[in-house]
Amino acid sequence: MAKKPWAGRFTEATSKSVERYTESISYDKRLWRYDIEGSIAHARMLAKQGIIAKKESGCIVKGLKEVYREIDEGRFVFSEELEDIHMNIESALIEKIGDAGGKLHTARSRNDQVALDIRLYLRAETDEICGLLLGLEKKLADTAEDYFGIIVPGYTHTQRAQPVLLSHHLMAYAQMFERDRERFTDALKRINILPLGACALAGTSLPIDRAYVAELLEFDGVSENSIDSVSDRDAVIEFLSCSSLMMIHISRIAEELILWSSEEFSFIEISDAYTTGSSIMPQKKNPDVAELMRGKTGRVFGNLVSLLTLMKGLPLSYNRDMQEDKEPLFDTCDTVKATLNILTEMLGGIAFKREKMESSAGAAFSTATDIAEYLVRCGLPFRKAHELTGKIVRYAIDKGKTLTELTPEEYSFHSPLIGSDIYSCIDATASVKAKNSFGGTSPEMVKGQIARFKKRLRT
Ligand code: ARG
Repeated sequence: MAKKPWAGRFTEATSKSVERYTESISYDKRLWRYDIEGSIAHARMLAKQGIIAKKESGCIVKGLKEVYREIDEGRFVFSEELEDIHMNIESALIEKIGDAGGKLHTARSRNDQVALDIRLYLRAETDEICGLLLGLEKKLADTAEDYFGIIVPGYTHTQRAQPVLLSHHLMAYAQMFERDRERFTDALKRINILPLGACALAGTSLPIDRAYVAELLEFDGVSENSIDSVSDRDAVIEFLSCSSLMMIHISRIAEELILWSSEEFSFIEISDAYTTGSSIMPQKKNPDVAELMRGKTGRVFGNLVSLLTLMKGLPLSYNRDMQEDKEPLFDTCDTVKATLNILTEMLGGIAFKREKMESSAGAAFSTATDIAEYLVRCGLPFRKAHELTGKIVRYAIDKGKTLTELTPEEYSFHSPLIGSDIYSCIDATASVKAKNSFGGTSPEMVKGQIARFKKRLRT
């Protein structure tokens, strides 16, 4: 039976059921790389400070590298009796190199060790997610360029509102994902602070050099308060909250892909490679991937709520409750990365149906606001122009006509201000072209937006 590093004051063995209940090795083994990386830096610092001998530190580092290889090659046997990744690795080290291994845990506790591992893990995951977000943003901007010129109905309340460029619509998502990436990058500032050296909670009487460990592990700073260092998981919560916000955006684009690929909309066709069939209805091609993106948003929110609930009201400093931070965090990382990857891939497999999009964009009186703005240019107060245009729409509905089908007489009957130049305002292309306010949907504006966006991505 493996001997527990903390067994000294105990006379009875831990019950099997307790071992099973308290273990975290089944999932925190995922942190092994970071645990070893952190331990190597710690051992080097201990030797530099003369707390352990150089030779001992050398043995520790060599032993840890062996453990690293064993785990990497799948030869390492993880033990539930040794609770967690920290004790599994330390015990393996002591078994390999003997007494010198027992010096590694000097001026350290699992409380600051786990805080360190999580920060190293979060840093790597955040970097990876930022890279994936960048790829998604690029894909959206490229798609916006590839399909430049297509006009789609813009919606409010899921009712056709005003025609917009498809590229503008796509770039709306690109802008959201850009802010998501900014948020993750900003969170890194708070993630990338070294907690190691806090020890159990109070610091240590031994002459450690925390700044040196920070330098070795490429942290931007050292935490100021040892109690805070082992007590909080706000970096995890912030990461989960960035992930949740990002998943909101993903769920919305997923929802639109689902709607747009329906027979009713028929705006897009998702390629066969990114759809699945039905086991009973042979004709079906279902947008399951997009549906799962929308669905998986729920578990990412759930993970955030788990952590918020876990941490609420906990007294300082470390409490074992905090071991429960890992599974929601790991699950979120897996979900978010897989989702970003597949969304980016899938966007490349979408055919946009120009004809259907453009015929819908021009219909349903979607250029009525352009008539109102025409009247404003003639000097009518907007409220009056709005009312008058409403009457024109009502009239057209009663006559079963579209706005372009109304005759010049029918227009001037409603207002002498309206001349035959009204027709150059009310087709979808003219309507879009006229929206030249900064950030608007005119081709000129959208071109500028894409160019600035791509330039930002390159910096
Ligand atoms: N497995 C623990 C966790 O994840 C490591 C810290 C344990 N510390 C302790 N004092 N029992 O939080």
